[in-house]
Amino acid sequence: MSYYEIQGGRPLEGRLTVQGAKNSVLPILAAALLAPGEGVIENCPDLSDVSTTLDILRLLGCRAQREGDKVTIDATALGRCAIPESLMREMRSSVIFLGALLARLGEAELFYPGGCQLGPRPIDLHLAALRTLGAEILEDQGCLCCRRSRKGLRGREICLSMPSVGATENAMLAACGCGGTTTIVGAAREPEIVDLQNFLRSMGARIQGAGSSLITVEGGAPLHPARYRVMGDRMAAATYLCAAAAATGDVELTGAEGDTLTAVLSCLEQAGCEIHRGENLIALRCRGPLRGIPPVRTAPYPGFPTDAQAVLMAALAGGEGSTMFVENMFESRYGHVDELRRMGAEIQIDGRVALVTGVGRLRGAALRGTDLRGAAALAVAALGAEGVSTLSQLRHIRRGYEHFPENLRSLGAEIRELP
Ligand code: EPZ
Repeated sequence: MSYYEIQGGRPLEGRLTVQGAKNSVLPILAAALLAPGEGVIENCPDLSDVSTTLDILRLLGCRAQREGDKVTIDATALGRCAIPESLMREMRSSVIFLGALLARLGEAELFYPGGCQLGPRPIDLHLAALRTLGAEILEDQGCLCCRRSRKGLRGREICLSMPSVGATENAMLAACGCGGTTTIVGAAREPEIVDLQNFLRSMGARIQGAGSSLITVEGGAPLHPARYRVMGDRMAAATYLCAAAAATGDVELTGAEGDTLTAVLSCLEQAGCEIHRGENLIALRCRGPLRGIPPVRTAPYPGFPTDAQAVLMAALAGGEGSTMFVENMFESRYGHVDELRRMGAEIQIDGRVALVTGVGRLRGAALRGTDLRGAAALAVAALGAEGVSTLSQLRHIRRGYEHFPENLRSLGAEIRELP
């Protein structure tokens, strides 16, 4: 079992290009099966979740090949509609294949998805949306058999009772295969949804409204494969910025848009960092210990992203002053807190609320990653801590961060992977 050894206390300095966005590329790869022919996805990060998605595409009959950061998908021979449980359990976003397969083949057979353990993660909104469009879905011992009804798939109004990212994406993909107009009311507004819309448009889909809470799809347009460049990963950007805030330093990130991270950047500014945003560039300078900031409440975009809660908490835990976090998106997303406590962090949890009291400096410790962002948060804390930390359970990091230790080393961090 490999692990990282991290010597804390080295300021981070320099420039880094941020990887392509995991949460964009996964639905985009699933969407690539909507049309026969060969398409190319650029800026595709090399992550275990992406490899799993490519395995699923191959298993369904597509050709999927990576060359550097480009992935070529040829969905001409797509012939199967069933995804085995072992692959479904690898990650949550496998559920997006439901909408894509339904649109292209009119049927899909898959299992309840896995993914990070963040508390209950139901898919009721996904299923309700697809049923509204005319899908018949039978659930049997975790298996979901989904096929278009005898009347076929028809565009309708879908009302989401909460702006679920995955349910919005599933509805967008299925709607591309429906006759007539679908409107998604209460849609998630995340930038990754806009990226998916842009990709679908490049395939010829008639879809608009992403980025607002009302998305309209004129279904039935003939789709063709496309060449598309995925947006930069705002959560990877948030992680590197929080690392520089924890360790102090001066970093410049290219490939990510500050506009997609306003809530996180504003917290870092309040904590005492200097932030500069340019086109496709975010720079952060941090000279001294971070200050406590007003309560951080996670919320759907454009609110503070739940995916950045752990990394910001890790940075503030080694600063000065108190900050309250309220995790509103997932029931159980404080898995990193026990590990931070091993480093001397003072954090009290009461249900969804975590009160962090900065202790000035954390101490190195032996740490275990608990989930994707939680594991990244422990690396952030270790980079700012006094002494050496070890971090195990790296499979979590590999799900979402490309070249993580190499990137940090290029900024001057002392981090190495040991077998
Ligand atoms: C996406 O997950 C992201 N994953 C998550 O990223 C992210 O944390 C989350 O959105 C919120 O921003 C991908 O894009 C692949 P949701 P998703 O459906 O789509 C409830 C990361 O670290 N809900 O918006 O699964 C749900 O339980 C991760 O990269 C229902 O109740 O999130 C949660 O409380 C992990 N019923 C809330 O909605 C449903 O049918 C938001 O979930 C669906 C969701």
